[in-house]
Amino acid sequence: MLVSPPAASVLHDALERVSTLVKEAILDSYATAEKKPATHYVWCNGVMEKVWLTNGYNRNRVELPPSEHDLALVERFASYQPQRLRAPRFFTNSRINSSPSLTLKDLFTGRALRNIELLLAAIDDLPKAAQEPMRLALTAAVGQMSKMVFAITGRGKTTGVSNKRMEVGSWVIGYWRPAQHFEINVWNCFEHRVQKLIKAVEQSKPAQDSGKAGGLPAVCAGGADYAILAGDCLALLPQIPDKSVDLIITDPPHGDRIPYLELSEMWNVILGEEPPFESEIVVSNAKERVKKTHDYNQAMSRFLQIASRKLSDSGSLVLFFNARTKESWKFLESFSGSANKAGMGYCGCFPLVYSAASVVQDNREGALRVDYGLVFSGSAVASPSLTDIPGWMPSLPTPKE
Ligand SMILES: C[S@@+](CC[C@H](N)C(=O)[O-])C[C@H]1O[C@@H](n2cnc3c(N)ncnc32)[C@H](O)[C@@H]1O
Repeated sequence: MLVSPPAASVLHDALERVSTLVKEAILDSYATAEKKPATHYVWCNGVMEKVWLTNGYNRNRVELPPSEHDLALVERFASYQPQRLRAPRFFTNSRINSSPSLTLKDLFTGRALRNIELLLAAIDDLPKAAQEPMRLALTAAVGQMSKMVFAITGRGKTTGVSNKRMEVGSWVIGYWRPAQHFEINVWNCFEHRVQKLIKAVEQSKPAQDSGKAGGLPAVCAGGADYAILAGDCLALLPQIPDKSVDLIITDPPHGDRIPYLELSEMWNVILGEEPPFESEIVVSNAKERVKKTHDYNQAMSRFLQIASRKLSDSGSLVLFFNARTKESWKFLESFSGSANKAGMGYCGCFPLVYSAASVVQDNREGALRVDYGLVFSGSAVASPSLTDIPGWMPSLPTPKE
């Protein structure tokens, strides 16, 4: 998507088509007794407290108590069972508020699930080139479609000026389901995201020739320029011929910083993906996953060993990394001196500068703010193009503990 974004016209047409197919049905599911679509509902502990609409002429917010019609309407969807979305697979991880009993119904109202499924079906009906961007817009919006969107109240407390007006908050990473939450009109969330995508595409440089796609054998044989593969690196990398790679850049999970697949489960459900949790290289608090630091170090060492065999004599590997505990740096020990018997040694590292802070930041106290690009090569000697990088260090960064 980033390398070869679709033309804005493809997205415009796709939005129009999806709109023709399902907009009315979705908006009907939010219609008030006066046949106006509600934009938001405020819920608290399973009770609908407020219905928000916009007024016709200046789009100002109108807040109403729920009418019998609003309550009957939501009740109609309360028992909705997803038709195409699989049951999510969650683990016991209090750090991300998940447990094996967590269901889609805990995360979404029945109405939202029904509307998300309508959108997915409409997207399936689009020309191929439009499907992926529209699924991107949908998955980017599902957080705001969920029960995880908290309400902001009492803003301005610190300034002493009281403000009772409630504002729409956001969902936050980690499946936190606030007692008071919003249910936001699914069509509005989706349309808003698609419009943002259209704007971004319009402002981006025209797509360059992105080369010829193919499978791994075709790329290795020179018959294709690239392959995009989703899978376990420990299973995929061995399929590449030895000594055939000039540069490996990798951004693996960093010890226990973020349980990626567990956090991604809701989005994988929407996309119909079933990721192999067992082969994830990560440290997780979820006991039943048995993903401890020791297993992490073993898998990362294994990765580095395979990768070093794949590098050409002049090849390099750049590993984006940082971790708080010494324990999580262990796998680097055998690679941190000059070239080891695996044929790869540590050259040095540079600090990574991110263009924007990620929402997936670890915000806990003592959280790491910088990552490093650790460079390895057969010669373990850093070329001037590396040593010239601002902040270049020949040694390994020192973990905090
Ligand atoms: C730090 S994140 C990379 C983020 C990525 N650079 C980005 O900007 O989206 C680490 C990723 O490695 C993936 N991962 C974990 N174990 C893996 C394995 N065995 N094979 C391939 N990928 C794996 C995780 O699921 C996660 O998506």
